[in-house]
Amino acid sequence: MKEKSFADRIITSSKEHSSKVVLALDIVAYKRFQLMERALSLLDKLSSHVAAVKLNYHLLLPLNLFTDVKRIVNDAHDYGLQVIADLKLNDIASTNLIACDYLWRAGFDAIIANPFIGYEEGLEPVIKRAHDMNKGIILLAYMSHKGSKEGYGLTVINQNLRQEKVYNLFVKRAIDWHADGIVVGVTNLHILSSIASEVKGKLLIFSPGIGVQGGDAMRAVKAGADFMIIGRVIIESEDPLSKLVKINRITYS
Ligand code: XMP
Repeated sequence: MKEKSFADRIITSSKEHSSKVVLALDIVAYKRFQLMERALSLLDKLSSHVAAVKLNYHLLLPLNLFTDVKRIVNDAHDYGLQVIADLKLNDIASTNLIACDYLWRAGFDAIIANPFIGYEEGLEPVIKRAHDMNKGIILLAYMSHKGSKEGYGLTVINQNLRQEKVYNLFVKRAIDWHADGIVVGVTNLHILSSIASEVKGKLLIFSPGIGVQGGDAMRAVKAGADFMIIGRVIIESEDPLSKLVKINRITYS
């Protein structure tokens, strides 16, 4: 029987854990054992209430990929969670393929990449290799920080000589390139809801920007986010579990 795709796996996990939260394990500590202890303990406490976890440079840079990171990924899998690597991959294909190969070997299920690099000799071989291995590629469409408007929010002249927003171009490309999902920040709800109406059923929408960056979880889901990427407001809370349960209560139905 064919193995489920990343999209199917994260939807299943979301249903099993009654949650649309992708937990960003953005732990800050300078000692390896502190990072490991905190990551494993957060997973232990919160794994029954999230759909997936996301690892960023906070863990990917200081930890050893094939011992420490792989242990975190394996633990998350044992809890039935999907694991996303957030590198915002942004290089030529040969370099991207090496980076992805390491991450796939460490067990990651999906990688976030930047569509700015283009398809040919950029993301085409990356997406193809990912799908051959039943892995997922999630592309940035509109980021959550204020400066996103300076790049993703620019208006450009497209190939038909019409004005178009960069984020709309990236959304169309994500569909054409058969990406598995897109990242759209919740900090601009107008953009999130207009993109959501365009891609429903074609791409999963992952939305960061809740809490510290000013976005609101319930509004994110109402505007069309399939998943919310949330870090500091949960992991830096005095009681991460009750914070998470509260978010699930208002966003999962
Ligand atoms: P906080 O603490 O703000 O963390 O909830 C959010 C996490 O998501 C990352 N982030 C993004 N990742 N596109 C992404 O792919 C974005 O627009 C974006 N905004 C935030 C951030 O690095 C952190 O890991």
